[in-house]
Amino acid sequence: MKKVLLIGSDGMLGGELKERLNKIYDVSDTTIQTLDICDENAVMKKAEEVKPYFIINCAAFTNVDGCETNFDLANKVNGLALENIAKVANSVDATLIHISTDYVFPGDLDVQKVYTEDMSTAPVTAYGKTKLLGEQNAAKAHKYYILRTAWLYGLGGKNFVKTMLKLSEGRDEVTVVCDQHGSPTSTTTLCKIIEQIMEKEPEYGIYHSTNEGFTTWADFAEKIYEFAGKKTRVKHITSDEYKKMFPQSSDRPKNSKLSKEKLHGIGIYPEKFEDALKEYLKEELK
Ligand SMILES: NC(=O)c1ccc[n+]([C@@H]2O[C@H](COP(=O)([O-])OP(=O)(O)OC[C@H]3O[C@@H](n4cnc5c(N)ncnc54)[C@H](OP(=O)(O)O)[C@@H]3O)[C@@H](O)[C@H]2O)c1
Repeated sequence: MKKVLLIGSDGMLGGELKERLNKIYDVSDTTIQTLDICDENAVMKKAEEVKPYFIINCAAFTNVDGCETNFDLANKVNGLALENIAKVANSVDATLIHISTDYVFPGDLDVQKVYTEDMSTAPVTAYGKTKLLGEQNAAKAHKYYILRTAWLYGLGGKNFVKTMLKLSEGRDEVTVVCDQHGSPTSTTTLCKIIEQIMEKEPEYGIYHSTNEGFTTWADFAEKIYEFAGKKTRVKHITSDEYKKMFPQSSDRPKNSKLSKEKLHGIGIYPEKFEDALKEYLKEELK
């Protein structure tokens, strides 16, 4: 059984991945309580103890607005720590799997178009900047996969779907941004992509890893209510209108549409976002 060092196993993605991988791999997992990824010596010590075939990093500073106000810490966790993790991976001859984000792109591409893995990055948010540094550092591993995901939701964490369901309890109408485009992605789908990458071990590099299909946050909210059988209406507002309501919020990319062609090229076909949402709601609404 191959050994896996799973870092960040109590996060939304890490929690589900741990449960799934435990069935097929010999998994040693760490949380922020047991391993701070900014502690270089501790990461090396752990990897030397486990001698993993794969190191999977699900740990991150994921509060997008918080990254603007707490840049130094966010940059340490999302960016600088990856230099050491890559060094550790090389030292123990492990393959690094690192999770990144659509926010590495500027998001100003014509919304009819999609971002491919080789397109220029130019993040506009502090979160995106720190995650891009993380990518650049993760790529220093001799064997690495960087999986860029987007609009992630899962049972074990705060997310857009849960927020919409909660809001629907007290309101007839919610206000949601209608001019940001992307692919909502369930942690279950992302776990399946990770598992297939681990099984197939395709060419090293960056892979866009989201559910299939594109939507906007407002249209996604409508799908959530439709599938959950809620009568709540969705009022569509632009990002500019949202910014006036919440001036502290950081600007989000208008276009977060990630091409999945490279993933298809290695025989991985994620579910449509609508199907993944239905599966998620079955569990969430139990
Ligand atoms: N959520 C999204 O919409 C989204 C979209 C695109 C990409 N991603 C990427 O997907 C990955 C998984 O995201 P997620 O939503 O599962 O994140 P999450 O739920 O916030 O989990 C991240 C975990 O990392 C831990 N952590 C923070 N700093 C750490 C440190 N110094 N050392 C060790 N652990 C630390 C956090 O602990 P605390 O909670 O105690 O801080 C948390 O348990 C991340 O790389 C994220 O950037 C997420």
